[in-house]
Amino acid sequence: TNRTFTMIKPDAVADGNSGAIIKMIEEAGFKVIAMKKTLLTPAQAGKFYEVHAERPFYADLCEYMSSGPIVPMILEKENAVLDFRTLIGATDPAKADEGTIRKIFAKSLSANAIHGSDSDENAAIEGAFFFATTEQY
Ligand code: GTP
Ligand code: MG
Repeated sequence: TNRTFTMIKPDAVADGNSGAIIKMIEEAGFKVIAMKKTLLTPAQAGKFYEVHAERPFYADLCEYMSSGPIVPMILEKENAVLDFRTLIGATDPAKADEGTIRKIFAKSLSANAIHGSDSDENAAIEGAFFFATTEQY
């Protein structure tokens, strides 16, 4: 098995969809290794999304990701990173497949309900951003 990292984003938390999203994640066979509810400062959001610093939407992304509480999680499953990206669907909910988390819960390209790491390497980096080793079980 391997691990991925996810965050339920401010729009989905504010809408009261955290429970339904966690249920879909568990029913898809992912084990929750670490989880909490927290609020990022704009500077922390900027650090998390540093790889996107040169993209035109970076400022909006950092403002949005610090606009309300989020639910970060570390998840475990065979083929976790790729299978999780399949479960959440395309970045733009208009292009996401039926039955995916973004198709069901996302509002727009920026308020798109959930994050999923794009590689094993980034999953480890992003998980360590939020959780100490002693918080992962
Ligand atoms: P994450 O799982 O959140 O990393 O999404 P992703 O890997 O599907 O997309 P990417 O890493 O390319 O972009 C990160 C996030 O930036 C996306 O999830 C969107 O919320 C946001 N984003 C991406 N492209 C755009 C855009 O063109 N405009 C705006 N406003 N936001 C964007
Ligand atoms: Mg990404």
